[in-house]
Amino acid sequence: MDLKRRAARLTDELLAAQKAYYVDGRPIMSDLEYDARFDELVRIERAHPELRSDTSPTNRVGSDLTGDFPEVSHTIPVLSLDKAYSAQEVVSWMDKTMKSASSRLSFVEEEKIDGISIVLYYEDGLFVRALTRGNGYVGNDVSENIKTIRAVPLRLASPVTLAVRGEVYLAKKDFERLKEADPEVANPRNMAAGAVRRQKSSETAAIPLTIFVYEGFWSDEGETPANHLAILAELRRLGFRINPHLALFSSSREESEKLLAEAGIEARALEFGDLASYLEEITLRRSSLEYEIDGMVTKVNELDVREALGYTEHHPRWAIAYKFESPQAVTKVLGVTVQVGRTGRITPVAELEPVALGGSTVRRATLHNQEYIDELELAIGDSVSVVKRGDVIPAVEEVLEKNGEGNTTFVIPSTCPTCSSVLEKRGAHLFCPNRQCPDQVKGRIAFFTARDQMDMDSIGPKAIAKLYDMGLVKDIPDLYTCDYDRLIGEKGYGEKMVRAFKDAVEDSKNRPFATVLASLGLPEVGGKGAEILVKGGFDSMDKLLKASDDNDVEAFTRIPQIGPQTANLIIAALQDEDMRGRIRRLEEAGLQFSQKQESSSLKQIFQGQVWAVTGSFEHFNPRTLALKELEKRGARTVSSVTGKTTHLLAGKGGGSKRQSAQALGVEIVDEARFLSMLGWSGDGDGGKEDDGDSGQLSFGF
Ligand code: IVH
Repeated sequence: MDLKRRAARLTDELLAAQKAYYVDGRPIMSDLEYDARFDELVRIERAHPELRSDTSPTNRVGSDLTGDFPEVSHTIPVLSLDKAYSAQEVVSWMDKTMKSASSRLSFVEEEKIDGISIVLYYEDGLFVRALTRGNGYVGNDVSENIKTIRAVPLRLASPVTLAVRGEVYLAKKDFERLKEADPEVANPRNMAAGAVRRQKSSETAAIPLTIFVYEGFWSDEGETPANHLAILAELRRLGFRINPHLALFSSSREESEKLLAEAGIEARALEFGDLASYLEEITLRRSSLEYEIDGMVTKVNELDVREALGYTEHHPRWAIAYKFESPQAVTKVLGVTVQVGRTGRITPVAELEPVALGGSTVRRATLHNQEYIDELELAIGDSVSVVKRGDVIPAVEEVLEKNGEGNTTFVIPSTCPTCSSVLEKRGAHLFCPNRQCPDQVKGRIAFFTARDQMDMDSIGPKAIAKLYDMGLVKDIPDLYTCDYDRLIGEKGYGEKMVRAFKDAVEDSKNRPFATVLASLGLPEVGGKGAEILVKGGFDSMDKLLKASDDNDVEAFTRIPQIGPQTANLIIAALQDEDMRGRIRRLEEAGLQFSQKQESSSLKQIFQGQVWAVTGSFEHFNPRTLALKELEKRGARTVSSVTGKTTHLLAGKGGGSKRQSAQALGVEIVDEARFLSMLGWSGDGDGGKEDDGDSGQLSFGF
């Protein structure tokens, strides 16, 4: 067989195998066979670049060439959805829609995937490009990155020309795994957004993104199926990945069954009256899904009715998104400031027109990094929606209206706003490389004194800035030698406050070694990391310093939770001269530099159990203290309630997790019962086992 035919054959086989594995979830080839064919194709393409097609499966590994994302016009209108915030609103919308339509209707219910909206363009059955949504008219060309996603077909089963809308996302379990290397990323969506906008497609390829597609736009109207179910079935036939979690609502369950059977789609067959309870059911069950959804989408099934209903300026009248309650508010971006964190990391922050949100007034919201800003296409003066997800700091979610002042997408300056050093890009973030940058110094000191660390919280960021600016505290150890009396007489600083500072400094000398270690800001050594080190045998600073002097990676990797990468980071940080000086001076100041091992006499009463925690507690504040008690007794702790969760520890408040637990039959334990399980019931702390750290540690990793 000549090479050209061999390459074509390998391409066909590999694409079919990729589809079977990544789209259908039914592998047809062993890994070994796959790899052998893949390697052969790579070899042929290397020797004969003219045989390499744009749709070759070897594109999936990406390239190390950096690319930018040129703006390209969409050939379809890329609209967003009108929103409802209660099941009742969706029911009313459905009633209204039925009244305004002249024929009988049915509605398809889909999950609203919390990912990145992408439009895929195909010509004659071949992938030609992928664009972000952008402003709906023009998007960024992210083709090279999207091509690395195995579930995106590069060739379709028929030579059709069409545009397909879908959501690129990252499964929760993949996010949890990858988060360890990049703990700053808040959620799967942000990680997916970062991956889609990587400059090197080889970096995108390393993240197991996938896609669900949900709308198709055929260039030849004659080919367009008659209803949404048929569109989904056709997209599936062409090779796309369709979300199987669907429901159809019509006048009766029998009618729904009939329509589903006609389209060849398996889904829940329901009637109009079931809509509210179905939405409630999914709301309760959503935490057990493998991916994140932020709502449900109700769509008119019949395309002729869709056409008759038409569009407003921003959204179709034939669909509505039911958003799960995350408090949201609309406000205006007054400016963007650029913050320098203790590690030098640059964070752009939107300065907002103050707005009430979830019980507080929001004035600022994080914009994470340049990629996030680019994805939002955010400019100063834009109207935006801000959200609070969980208890985290608010984030700008969406640009609702562009500014009228001609401002374009905000670009972070190339130099540090504080010390003017030229910023460096590392992964998705920019960093100020100057370790002596005043903001980094202040940040390191504030991290050390924070409540979660050495708990010297009377000496907060404001006081630290004052002490630094007066030249009194220039590094962490100066906190222990500083003449605080010099503050007296400065505006806002009286004797009482200075007394509190001195007390905090004295108190901090009693913090256990693990806390001191966690407060130094070593890479990968947060509260949990410090615990792991101490438990793993590094129960004194001397031992740590010795291991780092000896470059003894194995002394670290002997501890099961520590890999070579982390070990090397810790070793390098401990070899740093500034860090050494800091450590020496802190020892002189009288801080705890060793710690007796915790007695391992605690009964492993929660062994084999999987616990989630929700709400707030009287005896476990912060809540992480409860997690620690669970873990010490053998429990595995998880952040969401799923089918595998055995118990939910529920404090005051705590909404959706409690509901999920009820829906899934997970045992719910309240604080009083938990205390008695720990043997802590009774007055005060009388029954509390002494674990030597008196609850000072923070376990926010
Ligand atoms: S339909 C013209 N269906 O939600 C209607 N959107 O504001 C197009 N999304 O930009 C949207 N899952 O990124 C639709 N099953 C789904 C969806 C979905 C997620 C996203 C999409 C869109 C946004 C709506």
